[in-house]
Amino acid sequence: MAGLKIIKSGSYLPENVITNFDLEKMVDTNDEWIRQRTGIISRHQAIEETAIDMAVKASIPCLDGIDKSKIKYVIVATMTPDYFTPSCASIIAGELGIENDGVMVFDLSAACSGFVYGLNVASKMLEDDELALVIGVEKLTKAVDFTDRSTCILFGDGAGAVVVARSEANYQSHLGYKGNIDSLNLATCDGAKLKMAGQDIFKFAVRIVPQTIEKLLEGNSMTMADIDYVILHQANDRIIESVAKKYGDHHDKFVSSIAHVGNTSGASIPLAFDKLQRENKLTTGKVMMIGFGGGLTWGGCIVEYALR
Ligand code: UT7
Repeated sequence: MAGLKIIKSGSYLPENVITNFDLEKMVDTNDEWIRQRTGIISRHQAIEETAIDMAVKASIPCLDGIDKSKIKYVIVATMTPDYFTPSCASIIAGELGIENDGVMVFDLSAACSGFVYGLNVASKMLEDDELALVIGVEKLTKAVDFTDRSTCILFGDGAGAVVVARSEANYQSHLGYKGNIDSLNLATCDGAKLKMAGQDIFKFAVRIVPQTIEKLLEGNSMTMADIDYVILHQANDRIIESVAKKYGDHHDKFVSSIAHVGNTSGASIPLAFDKLQRENKLTTGKVMMIGFGGGLTWGGCIVEYALR
């Protein structure tokens, strides 16, 4: 893909928190099992707030000091949009006052790979001197069956957003898809609940993620030494750890922010990125981002950051 540079980031997590102990009261589970098997201690739940509300709150800090007239694309990665139509993106852009001539706003549905897919789409469309606002947002708890212990322990709500510009260097990305409707079924629009073949997706992830990392490094003639951070979709800490340990000295570049956020699907990568930003860990550098999940879909890319 044409190179991208993240120049701003923001995120938002709703106030209400569901702890593992809360879940113990709803299903046959326990805090110890959830922590050991997933690394999750708590997750956030949007009660009154919509996906659009969360995305707007995540985007406001992104626009601070940005010339909004340069934003040509607003891309919202989500599998839990508020409506069939209009898109979340069109309402979010309106609320943020992004109403430039020729601006293109749309939602993108690729489950947990959605944010990386969104960056790739932006990279293909952006011209010099143009900007894109790319958002990952999910209100997954509206689709969670709180009587199903195999899913309700994982998922949470939240939003992350970045403003991206073209960078001078080009980077090759790696995206893919394998048809498998049984692994992650999600149909929120008719009120159906999320079902997931957890073990299958786990096995798929620990196979596809290292392959994607190798393809990204090889395709860009890089080694892990060239990368400052690796942000995998925050699905399960055991997936992150199983991949990170393959990279010995670079283990600590693998970001884990799942403990108090849970699995937020399309929002998990920008949420993890913005957490680094809030911790003042980002000046300039390169981050590798890899999403995987429903579809089955996966996607990896290398993006520069130089935060304003
Ligand atoms: O983001 C979208 C993509 N999704 C993912 O990437 C999710 C990937 N998958 C996972 O994260 C894991 O597969 C889960 C966290 C969903 C499940 O963990 P697991 O280690 O694969 O557990 P399992 O399904 O193999 O179940 C192991 C045992 C079973 O008991 P037995 O048969 O060994 O006696 C389950 O019945 O744990 C039991 N179990 C639970 N026990 C307490 C399953 N869920 C729970 C639970 N609490 N919540």
